[in-house]
Parts: sequence; C-alpha cells; structure tokens
Amino acid sequence: MKTLLKNCKLIQGLSNIIIEDDKIIDIKPSENSPLERGTALAVGCVTFGTVETNINQIIDIQNNLVIPGIIDPHVHVRDLQQSDKEDWTSASKAALTGGVTTIFDMPNTIPATTNLVNLNLKREAAQKALINYKFFIGATNSNLKDIEEILSENPSDIAGIKVFLAGSSNNDTITDKDVLKNIFRVAKKYEKIVTVHTELQSCLNKWKQKVPNSSILNHNEIRNRECSIMGTKLVLELAEEIGNKICIAHCSTAEELKLIRKFKINNSVYCEITPHHLLLNETILEKVGNFGKVNPPLRCEKDNSALWEAVYDGTVDFIGTDHAPHKLYEKQKEYLQAPSGFPGLETGLHLLLNELNKGNLTIGKLVELTSRNPAEIFNLEKRGEIKVGNFADLTVIDMNMKWKIDSSKFKSKAKYSPFDRMKVQGKVEMCFVNGKKC
Ligand code: DOR
Ligand code: ZN
Repeated sequence: MKTLLKNCKLIQGLSNIIIEDDKIIDIKPSENSPLERGTALAVGCVTFGTVETNINQIIDIQNNLVIPGIIDPHVHVRDLQQSDKEDWTSASKAALTGGVTTIFDMPNTIPATTNLVNLNLKREAAQKALINYKFFIGATNSNLKDIEEILSENPSDIAGIKVFLAGSSNNDTITDKDVLKNIFRVAKKYEKIVTVHTELQSCLNKWKQKVPNSSILNHNEIRNRECSIMGTKLVLELAEEIGNKICIAHCSTAEELKLIRKFKINNSVYCEITPHHLLLNETILEKVGNFGKVNPPLRCEKDNSALWEAVYDGTVDFIGTDHAPHKLYEKQKEYLQAPSGFPGLETGLHLLLNELNKGNLTIGKLVELTSRNPAEIFNLEKRGEIKVGNFADLTVIDMNMKWKIDSSKFKSKAKYSPFDRMKVQGKVEMCFVNGKKC
C-alpha cells in the first residue's frame, strides 16, 4: 500500500511524502515533483524523482504544516478498574485529537503496574489502542524483584521505571532511601530511565500541619514548593552517586531548574515540563477551582518565566501533558476530597501551537521538545523525525485556524479543563500513525 501526501509544509519547505505501509519511503521538495508540473495527479503510476512508483492513494495536505507525531511521555490512561475515568480507546481518540501518536502510560492504575501479572493485564487492555504506546513500571518499597523480572526479558514496551516520592493518585510511594538506591541500581543495570515525581511526602505532611486553611487557593502553599525542591535535590544526588539515567517529571519551580542545570553537566539528567506549569500559575485557581488542582501544584509567575528560560536554554528536554483524567463529580467535590489532575492530551499541542503563533516558540523548538528529544532519550527507533526509513507518524496542522478550547467536546472521558474557553490559534487536522490516516 503506497500513499502520496502532497503539498506538506515541512520545516525544510513544501514537500511531497510517499508512505509505503508503515514507513516513509521518499520525501521530495514539491517544486521538483512531477505533481507540481501537472502530471499524474491521479492514483496510478507516478514518476517521483527518478523512481517510478505505483501509488494507491493521494492525499492533498493543502500546504498545511506537517510535524512528527507528538510523543507524550506522561499519560495516565486509567484502563482496567478505572475505565470509567478513561480507557485505551478514549485515551487514543483524545491523543489523536491532540496530534499525539505515541504515549507512555503511567503505572498508578488499579491494579498498579508493579509486577508482571498486572503488566500483562495492562498489555491486554492496551490492545485497543489506536496509537503507539509504552508502559512505565511502578516502583514500590518492595517490588525490586518484580522490576528485575520484567526488565530481564528486555521487553520493548517498557519506557522506564516510575517513582513517586509522595502520594497523589492511587500511587505507591517510596519512602526509603536505600530502596531508592536499589531501584536506581537496577535501572542502571538495564539502562532504563527512572522518572520521578519528586514531591517529598514527609515535607508535604509538615506543610499540611503548617497551613491551616485548606482551600484550592492555598494548594501551592500546602503542597509547598520546598517539597518538590527537596525531592528533586535528593534524587539528583542519588542518581549522581549511582550513575543512572533520571528524569525529573513535571518540573514546576525555578529552584529545581537551577538544580537540574547544575546536575546535567556531569550526569544523564532529563527534565520534563507540562504545558500547564509553563502557561498557568496559581492565580487562575480563583477562576477554575479544583479543575486546576494538580500535583505538583500550579506555581507562581516567576516559575512560568523560569520554565520559559529553561525551554530556551535547553534545560528542558521534553514536554509531557500529565494527562490525568478523573470523574467530573469527583473534581466538583470540596478541595480536600477532589482528586488532583486533569486531561491534557487534547490541549497540550494546541497550547504550544498557540505559543508558536504568538512568537514565543519556534517550530524547531516545538518539534525538539515534543518528538525528537523524547524519541532519542527513550530510544524509540525510527520515530521522532520525518525522514526516509522512519515510521510514518505524522501530525498535520492548520496553523491559521482560530478556535476556542471547549472541554465539553473532549474525546477524553474527562470533559473539563483549566484551559476551557481559552482562544487559541493552530489546530490539528489529522494524524498518521504507522502510515495509517487517523
Ligand atoms: O495531579 C496529578 N494527578 N499528579 C500526579 O502525580 C498523579 C496524577 C493522577 O494520576 O491523577
Ligand atoms: Zn502524572
């Protein structure tokens, strides 16, 4: 099966792309293509460059922007016992609406992805996926053997090991430094990244006592920045000692960025940020209430600025949405009862495209943070770049389209967002996943 995508606006200019089955087999500038000289516009035998090729279908991309399919390394799919919140079908549809063609699923599902039996249940549920995926294995205080059992088979569907240093949503929490060291050692042995949610539980406990007024408006004070900073420092130091690869998940504060910058010099340290920590801060909570409740919390304006600086200077390696769907009625409970997290798959790229249109991001930087870097860092072979021989994971974008985010129309089962009703410019038109139009 051969598909010709004509008039694709790539970074390097207007091009035609030929896909055979799941791979890109040719890319040619449009002006050199016979198509632009008015020949062979129909399905059939097309001379493409010097190669005569039998094309089964032609899709006119109409000069829309085409970028590598987005790789989102931080998604909570929820399937199995929380499929009322999200399942692999709804998550896939949300991903495709947001231009995302690969996701890494987090382990804090029910049951948790902390042993081979539960991983196999997840593997079965994920058969429904319409996109590419990998899984994080969750670390607990006592599952080192389970992690080794999984990794020793060298499975290609494992993205890395996820560690939570604090409770957030049904997750196991690591509280023991020696356990942490052993996890890092195993990660090093099998060359896997450890992605860490670095808020430190003991510190959160202290601040919960300290701040008497429990309100969403105080979320950033209660889950105090000090706890993220302490946890980040702790794991950066341990990873330096052990020599394993580490990723600070959803980095949210200026202080952590400073630490990451320092530790990056001599170590394999990666920094993930989210669109919400980049673009929102706690001042929005008055308007959006618990829809903006997330861990780590939305911080301050100075942190937004620090995150932008870290995007520009290369401290940030990739952007993950931390898509964390919960039921609407749960989010409508009072502050302490409402779960943290909100859907992000359908807003993430669109928010970044809007920043591109505003001149705050270049297309090169966007592609680096959303596909090239995650593909390289997590060893996704033949993905993350539009080039001959790679899988045809592509996202087609109308950069001119102005529209309003409407969370009631989300494909995710979670139909709310702190970005609801925001006006943005730039919209995903279609995706190709392994050469298939979605
Ligand atoms: O806000 C959050 N929600 N932070 C997390 O770390 C977990 C996530 C979830 O799973 O709901
Ligand atoms: Zn998360």
